[in-house]
Amino acid sequence: MIVGVPREIYPGERRVALVPGVVPSLAKAGLEVVVEADAGVEAGYSDAEYEAKGAKILPSRAEVFGSADIIVQVLCHGSNDRTGRADLPLFKRGQALIGFLRPLGDVGTLEEIAATGVTSFSVELMPRITRAQNMDALSSMGTICGYKAVLIAADKLPKLFPMMTTAAGTITPSRVLIIGAGVAGLQAIATARRLGAVVSAYDLRPVVKEQVQSLGGRFVELPIEATDAQDAGGYAKAQDESFYQRQRELLGKVVAESDVVITTAVVPGKKSPVLVTKEMVAAMTLGSVIVDLAAERGGNCELTRPEETIVVHGVTIVGTINLASAVPYHASQMYAKNLTNFLLHLVKDGALALNLDDEITRSTLVTHAGEIVNPRIREFYSLPQLASQSATAKEAK
Ligand SMILES: NC(=O)c1ccc[n+]([C@@H]2O[C@H](COP(=O)([O-])OP(=O)(O)OC[C@H]3O[C@@H](n4cnc5c(N)ncnc54)[C@H](O)[C@@H]3O)[C@@H](O)[C@H]2O)c1
Repeated sequence: MIVGVPREIYPGERRVALVPGVVPSLAKAGLEVVVEADAGVEAGYSDAEYEAKGAKILPSRAEVFGSADIIVQVLCHGSNDRTGRADLPLFKRGQALIGFLRPLGDVGTLEEIAATGVTSFSVELMPRITRAQNMDALSSMGTICGYKAVLIAADKLPKLFPMMTTAAGTITPSRVLIIGAGVAGLQAIATARRLGAVVSAYDLRPVVKEQVQSLGGRFVELPIEATDAQDAGGYAKAQDESFYQRQRELLGKVVAESDVVITTAVVPGKKSPVLVTKEMVAAMTLGSVIVDLAAERGGNCELTRPEETIVVHGVTIVGTINLASAVPYHASQMYAKNLTNFLLHLVKDGALALNLDDEITRSTLVTHAGEIVNPRIREFYSLPQLASQSATAKEAK
């Protein structure tokens, strides 16, 4: 089987789906790799490096799509909401596609992908089970984003992060607050601690308290309890507006005392909750910084403007999106490793094995033979059950 790696075409995207280092392990499993010329250059991987590891470089995108049985991308049509559609005419019926598809974003996009006849897998739908941990691209990218968010904040802040005792006096450490202590938030805590800041973190899931403390952060306890805080996959569940209202009231004081606020609070498939209002921004000290990692999904700060950095009431609010692309070498390396593990899982004896009894395959498969086949996604968009699925449901009863 041939795995094709096209160059990423989302504006400003610098990552690449596979790096040279994973080519030999794919070859061992009988998977040949073809790469569009210069696909890895922006991430720091030259065509010569791919060739040295046994991949073949093809001069055009059309040739990659034309020759591959499986196309691997970072941002596919869907998560690439700007230029992704350009790939649709290039897909071949029966070809497989793996990447970020943003499956809870827009049903029209998924229908367009289904109509091409590709068998697509969304890495966002990877189940959070031990067996799938090394395929979990969301966690990999979250790690990168959490790290980079702290560096951006440190760069914008007119203060030092660490405490310093100097002949010119003692510098007090900066106070960093992380809202949302999932993968990105935990990495942000660790990074801010390494830079010497005093770090606090808050999450509506109380189970993360110990993780925050083990990284040297203080867990902010608010006298408010989320109902049914997390789902079986470990993701936060959406709360009603009165809960978010109360959260904002209680968070106000902690936000005002912080030099840096990094927000990462997201709920899958939902607009991000607003946790930092414009009044809370106005109460922050001049020069403070907010980095809103939820910017792409509406933002956790009321004033965030996606893709922009603005200054309001003297507070810098960073709404950068697609932050993982800003560390393209390691983001690509981690993503490539996740994809390789996933490919080795999906391909058996030189062919794609669509074993729907397997939780990893079943959860990530989105489209097949012209249809959106994922039951969770069909339910999310209120699409009727497919005939084959209602038959299976009846059998199960
Ligand atoms: N294989 C596995 O077992 C596996 C893999 C990856 C992650 N996880 C776990 O899943 C959990 C969530 O991971 P994630 O980082 O992808 O989540 P995420 O990116 O969906 O959300 C980020 C964080 O925001 C928090 N949040 C949402 N709404 C909030 C609100 N109103 N106020 C405060 N915080 C809010 C969430 O609880 C979460 O911790 C983590 O605990 C992580 O360790 C498990």
